[in-house]
Amino acid sequence: MAARIAVLASGRGSNLQAIIDAISSGELPAEVVGVFSDKPAATALARVAPGLRWSADARAYPSREAFDADLADAVAACQPDWVVCAGYMRILGDAFVNRFRGRLLNIHPSLLPHYPGLRTHARAIADGRREHGASVHFVIPELDAGSVVAQAVVPVLAGDDAETLSARVLAVEHPLLVAVLRLAASGRLAEHGTTIQLDGHPLFTALRLDSAGVLHAPDGPPSVPV
Ligand code: GAR
Repeated sequence: MAARIAVLASGRGSNLQAIIDAISSGELPAEVVGVFSDKPAATALARVAPGLRWSADARAYPSREAFDADLADAVAACQPDWVVCAGYMRILGDAFVNRFRGRLLNIHPSLLPHYPGLRTHARAIADGRREHGASVHFVIPELDAGSVVAQAVVPVLAGDDAETLSARVLAVEHPLLVAVLRLAASGRLAEHGTTIQLDGHPLFTALRLDSAGVLHAPDGPPSVPV
């Protein structure tokens, strides 16, 4: 049975589109059951049928908790197996996170634990990093601090600015997110406390996406495609 995926997005929604395309091509055995946004004008919303869209202007709510409560109820109503933050730019409060904990994933544009938060590309360039990338992690109440499932690495090139680097990272975000969701959708991925389990075994080191778009377990040569 196809896994039910709810997607939270605040803007353009290119990661959402990657999910939609992977489902259409048969690469991802899943169904997008709702797209949720804190920005009613988000382009992401237009990528799905009107009946699948939910949005509310977070600024119109008296508190973060009040917005999160409405969001959580809307997400829960579509009975998702997985809730995916794909360019969702609003911090989720503890109540939301705890309600969906264990099935709540986020894609973040850095090699966590480096550069949680915003402006990750500019900060990596300013620090003279040679490598940057993206991470998919389970969400916990602490921002960008949950266990990392998988990462994709790109080089930082001479002359890069935040725009060129973010475009290079975005190009690997899409296959990275789809690859992790394939594991999630096929029941191979679980979060137990602070430990990730893959196929019932603890995953001590984040998986890596190779240039062919395949995830590898990095511990111990030869690395094993998963
Ligand atoms: C992506 O780069 C994603 O990693 C980032 O926002 C962008 C959304 O792009 N997310 C965060 O920064 C979360 N802290 P998209 O709307 O085209 O998918």
